[in-house]
Amino acid sequence: MSALIAPSMLSADFTKLADEVRMVNQSEADWFHIDIMDGIFVPNITMGFIVVKAINQLAEKPLDVHLMTVHPERYIEQWRDAGADHITVHYEACTHLHRVIQQIKLTGARAGVAINPHTPVQVLTDIIEDLDLVIIMSVNPGFGGQNFIPRTYEKIRELSSMIRSRGASTLIEVDGGVTVANTAKLVEAGAGSLVAGNTVFNSENPKETIHLLKNAALQNNQKR
Ligand code: DX5
Ligand code: ZN
Repeated sequence: MSALIAPSMLSADFTKLADEVRMVNQSEADWFHIDIMDGIFVPNITMGFIVVKAINQLAEKPLDVHLMTVHPERYIEQWRDAGADHITVHYEACTHLHRVIQQIKLTGARAGVAINPHTPVQVLTDIIEDLDLVIIMSVNPGFGGQNFIPRTYEKIRELSSMIRSRGASTLIEVDGGVTVANTAKLVEAGAGSLVAGNTVFNSENPKETIHLLKNAALQNNQKR
């Protein structure tokens, strides 16, 4: 077992976005993680359709779009048109979560749900089989570069056991505060995909850092 690596473009240098996208293309990264914030669900505003379309024109890997917005159901088709391969909505933002998940699937995108640090994984019991991925937030959503919340390890284990016992094939993604140092432990707990913003883009050599993350995820496997 290993884990996919999804650099978060939130921490990229937007004055040279094309170079940053090409760097991810040439690296061992698996996905582009794209953080959409509306200034209402979270206290920050990031990018809209125009920027995601621009990234999509150059990207040679799937776009993993994480919507930190209220009423995500209003724009699912537009995110898909902008290039989203995966669309993840927040549990806390959806009164009719099951309906939104079906809406995402109808567009042909893979469907995900993100849960905030205070939200127990058990709220997903009755929808887990419908989900392609779950993002466990390991920081409070809104900003890159925050510290990892340690309780996350236990949440990954709990979710992993729920997925196994239901015979589902949902991928567990961890988002926030991922470093080369905590990668192995996250994979060991059951994470299948790791988002990394600050760790990648604020390092001396982002491409090499992606390699180190990928390697840390693999080394865990060799120990087993
Ligand atoms: C947080 C975002 C994350 C963030 C991760 O609200 O969802 O994807 O960019 O950034 P780091 O890896 O810097 O914690
Ligand atoms: Zn994210």
